[in-house]
Amino acid sequence: METLVKRTIQIAQPSTGAAEWQAVKEPIMSGWLTSGPKVRAFEKNFAEMHQVKRACAVTSCTTALHLALAALDIKPGDEVLVPAFTWVATANAVLYCGATPVFVDVDPVTFNMDPSDIAHRITEKTKAIIPVHLFGLCADMDAIKNAAPGLYIIEDAACAAGAIYKEVYAGGLGDFGCFSFHPRKSVTTGEGGMVTTNNNDYGDKLECLRNHGASVSEEVRHHGPRPYLLADFDVMGFNYRMTDLQGAMGIVQLSKLDQFIGERAKWAKFYERELDEVEWLRTPQEPEGYRHGWQSYACFVDETKAPFSRNKIMEILQEKGVSTRPGTHAVHMLGFYANKYNLKPEDYPGAQAANDYSMAIPLHNLMTKEDYEYVVAAIKSIA
Ligand SMILES: Cc1ncc(COP(=O)(O)O)c(C=O)c1O
Repeated sequence: METLVKRTIQIAQPSTGAAEWQAVKEPIMSGWLTSGPKVRAFEKNFAEMHQVKRACAVTSCTTALHLALAALDIKPGDEVLVPAFTWVATANAVLYCGATPVFVDVDPVTFNMDPSDIAHRITEKTKAIIPVHLFGLCADMDAIKNAAPGLYIIEDAACAAGAIYKEVYAGGLGDFGCFSFHPRKSVTTGEGGMVTTNNNDYGDKLECLRNHGASVSEEVRHHGPRPYLLADFDVMGFNYRMTDLQGAMGIVQLSKLDQFIGERAKWAKFYERELDEVEWLRTPQEPEGYRHGWQSYACFVDETKAPFSRNKIMEILQEKGVSTRPGTHAVHMLGFYANKYNLKPEDYPGAQAANDYSMAIPLHNLMTKEDYEYVVAAIKSIA
């Protein structure tokens, strides 16, 4: 390690360039900037790739989750199950509806919802469950469905574009799938999100609710026989419309998704092989029958074997130029949720362990072979 020249390696970096630049010029030149032909094409391509009937583009995965919950008419008095280890947005979206998020523990090996912790959390108020496909690995949907019969299922697939569970793409495993195009995700539109569904009635509802509850979209109205008349508004909706600039960028990014995942999968294997000898680090796995989306490469630091604490190891790696992050956070340990529901860290031991010991290491499509070798050398030098 000492002989290697220091490098600076980011935890994640978007892969954007000339093709995206060319694509966003089109709506700028045409003047159709809000949701229009580019968003429609992006939705069509996304639905085809994920083998679902409908895809509805929105402004983020957070608004995607809110829209899906709103389409199910989740309201005050309802309870919705969410994993305790996820990005805070999963739980926040439930609160946006005035409903109550009820946390379920996670398995600290997969970092996903633990199906054995579901049944006893269900009450007569429970309406829906939001399994998260964290870091691109699909949750164990068969076990979750068995444990939560009759509940609506909204997949939080923020990290899981292109991921597969037993031959079914993420986004087609429940009633709705919600995706993120934040720059830390495998494909990005700057900010942005998508809701997928195989139910055409839900699809119509999503399109209406994302556009203030309007009975027709601006594009349809403008190009229809009576563009001078405003739409009807029979329900209260939101402005969660994606712009056509984002749609244009999304089309280009999506066309690279398989290539991005393929490259990431190759380097994930490299990490797994090279880091096998580091006994204090558990690397993530891709179980049989799954296609991991590899949005992040989240490891687990076993502090009983490690020379230092997880946080100290992260500090050492930062000094060596290697960015790391905790995988994500345990939402029940965040001040707002801990105070609101009087929750203690140990109430969800799996999520607490994931919060305290997970460590994501760099994995993205701008990294070179030398970058990956440097990360491995930096980790191995910690003793
Ligand atoms: C699991 C999960 N859900 C939801 C979100 C929210 O996504 P967005 O930033 O697009 O609102 C994120 C973002 O990181 C996430 O990781």
